[in-house]
Amino acid sequence: MTSLERTLVIVKPDGYRRGLTGEVLRRIEAKGYTLAALAVQTPDRARLAQHYAEHEGKPFYEPLLDFMSSGPATFAIVEGHRCIEGFRALAGATDPTAALPGTIRGDLGRDWGEKVQANIVHGSDAPESAEREIAIWF
Ligand code: RTP
Ligand code: MG
Repeated sequence: MTSLERTLVIVKPDGYRRGLTGEVLRRIEAKGYTLAALAVQTPDRARLAQHYAEHEGKPFYEPLLDFMSSGPATFAIVEGHRCIEGFRALAGATDPTAALPGTIRGDLGRDWGEKVQANIVHGSDAPESAEREIAIWF
């Protein structure tokens, strides 16, 4: 038995406001992954700065922190073999206009003409980032 993989999923404030939290969690469960922890909270800027450290200095960084701190979001620890790659496939491309139909961002997201893409979900991109991000929020 290989070790169980974990990822941090966030239903971002746009997803929360639009009432899509349940739909996102439904897709994760329907895929067969396990919800190991769930929490609703409005992300604070200090922890967002840690979470998004890799993007500091980019043009969308300040708009990203404004967007992500704009209201409640749902944080989930998701478990299952290869769930990091699997959830990124469920989420689709970063740009919701380009994200393929069938994905969360492709089916439920669109461009709103803002300075940052509001794209409903976050998913960790590697085992190290998953553990780093889980430690920030849980
Ligand atoms: P995430 O980290 O949220 O799972 O998304 P990702 O890996 O697909 O995208 P990443 O490059 O890590 O960017 C983080 C988030 O910043 C916003 N973004 N907007 N040009 C833009 O308007 C732009 N670029 C990035 C998105 O919300 C993206 O998910
Ligand atoms: Mg990312």
